[in-house]
Amino acid sequence: TGYVTYDPGFMNTASTKSAITYIDGEAGILRYRGYPIEQLAGKSTFIEVSYLLIYGELPTKAQLEDFTDRIRRHTLLHEDLKRFFDGFPRNAHPMPVLSSAVNALSAYYQDSLDPRDPEQVELSTIRLLAKLPTIAAYAYKKSVGQPFLYPDNSLSLVENFLRMTFGFPAEPYEVDPEIAAALDMLLILHADHEQNCSTSTVRLVGSSDANLFTSVSGGINALWGPLHGGANQAVLEMLDDIKASGGDVKEFVRKVKNKEDGVKLMGFGHRVYRNYDPRATLVKKVADSILSKIGGDDQLLDIAKALEEAALTDEYFIERRLYPNVDFYTGVIYRAMGFPTRMFTVLFAMGRLPGWIAHWREMHREPLKIGRPRQIYTGYGERDYIEIAGR
Ligand code: CMC
Repeated sequence: TGYVTYDPGFMNTASTKSAITYIDGEAGILRYRGYPIEQLAGKSTFIEVSYLLIYGELPTKAQLEDFTDRIRRHTLLHEDLKRFFDGFPRNAHPMPVLSSAVNALSAYYQDSLDPRDPEQVELSTIRLLAKLPTIAAYAYKKSVGQPFLYPDNSLSLVENFLRMTFGFPAEPYEVDPEIAAALDMLLILHADHEQNCSTSTVRLVGSSDANLFTSVSGGINALWGPLHGGANQAVLEMLDDIKASGGDVKEFVRKVKNKEDGVKLMGFGHRVYRNYDPRATLVKKVADSILSKIGGDDQLLDIAKALEEAALTDEYFIERRLYPNVDFYTGVIYRAMGFPTRMFTVLFAMGRLPGWIAHWREMHREPLKIGRPRQIYTGYGERDYIEIAGR
């Protein structure tokens, strides 16, 4: 069958060409469509960055208004789909609820499933961007046993999400502009990261010509794992544990170094960055400013900072070139905003959505080639079947 390269975990194999996101892991550089992440985080908005990633250019004012309007018209969930949430146990983690509801979009919106019809692809794109925040808010409401709110389309995407998450029906909800701005910025930082595990999953599912909703649902599942998007939840649980056991970061670092019980420093390390993750630099700054404005657990932030310092000055981490990644400081901020720990990865999914869509669409602009890796077989050679009585 010819020559096969063995590359577990795709350490050196490029699965695709892509014009969306550029990362230089040695230099700590991240750009979307050529624009440095620092500039986008400082000047742009999540909706504008979504447009940039999906369509390739920053929108004109008219394009942005049209895009925003189209999204606004699709924020409602089908009433039957709303009842879908009732079927989950109240203590369910919101990630499987999210991915299931996103997958169910393929059942409710059958007029936008054809990957080769540009109008249907456009419609499913807008529907996903519009409905994911609604689904995410309902996953939260379900977990706390509170009533669902209909979207208020006079609000921006992020404001609407905050209101649907933390508001109550028939009660006015005042969106805190500091929180909305910080969340918008965090969503920008998560919006794309080239061929990470979840994006590669979206591409692989999509490569069989499966529709956009179901491909993105696959990406959400890949994101849930603690080595990927689930790390933001794992970081906060780690910080909570350190705090509860007296705040001794040196002792924790010692355990990590000795690989005691397989414990890792969550929020540290990255396949591509061998230098400070540029997103982590930005998140750390927001953590400082937002916590001073809206309050929050300063002690947790102090533990995170002490932990970072202890790790960055330790041989183990220096040798392996392990630095904080995007997830290291996000949890402290999400908690200060009022989100329960279990919602953190849902927020990551909301941020990563435009990236998933952009990659799925980029893949479909090329002649479709099904993703089908090869393997090195290590099992038995041929052997004869043994009747059950003889085993
Ligand atoms: N704590 C302790 N040791 C670590 C860590 C860590 N967080 N990360 C890597 N190492 C060690 C690892 O044990 C290995 O050591 P040795 O050579 O002695 O076996 C060495 O560093 C190389 O690591 P690796 O696991 O081979 O690297 P990878 O590229 O396969 O894995 C990673 C990358 C992100 C999965 C890993 O660094 C990790 O598990 N980090 C913790 C989870 C985390 O924060 N994930 C979020 C990633 S960024 C956002 C996202 O994608 O969602």
